[in-house]
Amino acid sequence: MQDHTIPSGLHVAMILDGNGRWAQSQGQRRLYGHHKGAKALKNVVLACPDLGVRYLTVYAFSSENWKRPKEEVSGLMSLMEQYLEEEIQALADQGVCLKVIGNRQRLAPSLQKLILKAEALTEGNGRLGLQVALSYGGREDIVKATQKLAMCVQNQTMRPEDITETHITQVLWTYPWPDPDLLIRLGGEQRLSNFLLWQLSYSEFVFLPRYFPDFTVQDFREALMAYSQRQRKFGALPSDTSESASMASA
Ligand code: FPP
Repeated sequence: MQDHTIPSGLHVAMILDGNGRWAQSQGQRRLYGHHKGAKALKNVVLACPDLGVRYLTVYAFSSENWKRPKEEVSGLMSLMEQYLEEEIQALADQGVCLKVIGNRQRLAPSLQKLILKAEALTEGNGRLGLQVALSYGGREDIVKATQKLAMCVQNQTMRPEDITETHITQVLWTYPWPDPDLLIRLGGEQRLSNFLLWQLSYSEFVFLPRYFPDFTVQDFREALMAYSQRQRKFGALPSDTSESASMASA
């Protein structure tokens, strides 16, 4: 049953932060926290359609996360493979369409192959779009987009002065998915950490102190309720205070 106070068709982006600190607080190794995070993510994904969420984009591994200790990086990569192998059929059965964004060339060939297989299996599913940012950086996304447009200028299919925001949007990894309406960041930090820099320009932000493994469907619902109280103006005036509104009501 849809919760009617939350708008439907939302795109929610999430920074799944705090796995390592959660594990340390339990006297466990950081990887244990990532495994618990994967479980929390599954609950969030399954809850999305009933909460009116149409797209979910999660930051699973950033361009900068390659700098972490080898053991943590390889553990996270194995976890991604395991998740894709074990969960993809269930996700497909739930009507989830999976898309991975980021620099795939840095991923192991076995993971790249699994991603292609998972994307093909879930292609065209329309209940939830799940976008996983893996080896992703917002600046890298913009650099790659700039290179693509520069190629168009070089081969004279485009003039520099003709480049618009739409052209840039169309060459980002996230295309053709819409921009997020809401960003939720777990773990108590209040920064973007190079996530979706272009795409989050007009998104609403909710920062939560909770570590991601402790994040529940109820927390998710509350974040969506907080979003539903926000007035989005996109740089304009709220519609009920604009001149045209006051003239119409005069
Ligand atoms: C940030 O916590 C989290 C990550 C770098 C990994 C996120 C990955 C998962 C939740 C695993 C499941 C994901 C998929 C798509 C299968 P942190 O390690 O930076 O935590 P800390 O700030 O406490 O150190």
